[in-house]
Amino acid sequence: MSDQPDKPFLQIVVCASGVAADVGKLITAAHERHWDVGVIATPQGLGFLDAEAVEAQTGRPIRSAWRSPGEPRPTRPADAIAVAPASFNTVNKWAAGISDNLALGVLCEAPAMGIPVAVLPYLNSAQAAHPAYRQSLERLREMGVLIGSYEPHRPKAGGGADRYRWEEALELLAPKLSAPA
Ligand SMILES: Cc1cc2nc3c(=O)[nH]c(=O)nc-3n(C[C@H](O)[C@H](O)[C@H](O)COP(=O)(O)O)c2cc1C
Repeated sequence: MSDQPDKPFLQIVVCASGVAADVGKLITAAHERHWDVGVIATPQGLGFLDAEAVEAQTGRPIRSAWRSPGEPRPTRPADAIAVAPASFNTVNKWAAGISDNLALGVLCEAPAMGIPVAVLPYLNSAQAAHPAYRQSLERLREMGVLIGSYEPHRPKAGGGADRYRWEEALELLAPKLSAPA
């Protein structure tokens, strides 16, 4: 499948968090709301998902590495970005302005380019208790990033995949967009 220019383009950024294998749920929800969808995975995140299934669903290759200088841009510009699941690591690096992989490069630039971004962290309460994490969320909020409501699960307790609301990303983005809900 190639670009569908009649539809807005949602770029999903997937990190190496426990629920990443279920990102198909967000892709399905976005397709139902008439988004054209692409996926960027962090280099670690690539190992957490079924790349073949995601590519079959989106009709596009997953992107994870930078293009080479001189290569054409491989996708159309995003109309919105959903970071789901977002890891502790990527949230902190993003807020600190670290751009050492493609996903972070896109995320560090997006707010200043006027692209609406929603982030749904998935992490445990020990990670969330780190003071850097609270400051990172504060900084992302100041940048205009929309933050999901997932309450971190207890460490080593099996996670909270059943209460991770993928569609919250679309609900957060909807008021920022004139097109789909
Ligand atoms: C099985 C497994 C599950 C993990 N789950 C999470 C998680 O749910 N949330 C999180 O923030 N980190 C989790 N981690 C740690 C991240 O994978 C690690 O911090 C990684 O460097 C994040 O990379 P990224 O932010 O570039 O995607 C997990 C690691 C493993 C091995």
